[in-house]
Amino acid sequence: MRLNRFLAEAGLASRRSSEDIILEGRVAINGHPVTDLATEVDAELDHVTVDGKRVHLKQKNIYILLHKPLNYVTTVKDEKGRDSVVDLIKISERIFPVGRLDYDTTGLLLLTNDGELSFRLTHPKFGVEKTYVAVLNKRITEKELAILRKGVRLFDGTTSPCKAKKLAKEAVEITIHEGKNKQVKRMFRKLGFKVRQLYRTRYGPLLLGKLKYGQWRNLKPQEVDALKKIVGLGS
Ligand code: URA
Repeated sequence: MRLNRFLAEAGLASRRSSEDIILEGRVAINGHPVTDLATEVDAELDHVTVDGKRVHLKQKNIYILLHKPLNYVTTVKDEKGRDSVVDLIKISERIFPVGRLDYDTTGLLLLTNDGELSFRLTHPKFGVEKTYVAVLNKRITEKELAILRKGVRLFDGTTSPCKAKKLAKEAVEITIHEGKNKQVKRMFRKLGFKVRQLYRTRYGPLLLGKLKYGQWRNLKPQEVDALKKIVGLGS
């Protein structure tokens, strides 16, 4: 398999970040440094090291569903020193969030050490659906919702058709399958709304359920299988 995929499956980093690690010259195979992204490795026979440390493919994969509270970042480290969601999960293994939620967004967040699954879940090609509830600063009309459903033009492209349902005068359930930065807030802003609260209730086949803010649980094996299946990793 490709070296970047090997590193991602070994839980070292996402597939994209693994490419950076290779390009930085930190990887050696059987003692020889490699920087070619097209390098293939034999997971059983080759001796792969990163920064001189052996990397093994066999690892216990961890899949966690967290109810992200307000005022946490979803990066592992924050340059402003703000709290990270990773610190809410007291386990010894290194895990990372799948995709991003804003500091002030709450709801369903997946964390894992499975770099390959994370790469696929966040890749636009697989179009994984995410459902949010947005509480707005004023009432929204059916006509405005129809515009949203069709797609709105943002500086980084027009959004794909999405599902949007009115839950109350000022609350909308919206399902998108892209992952542009701050996409939901920007879609509403484009129509003149401010999103007062945003929370995610669904990620692909996973539902937030009854977890309270800050609580988390391991995914059930059937849930892991369902996630893998939607991104073509099903067995
Ligand atoms: N869209 C946003 O605007 N913010 C999020 O946190 C997630 C989706």
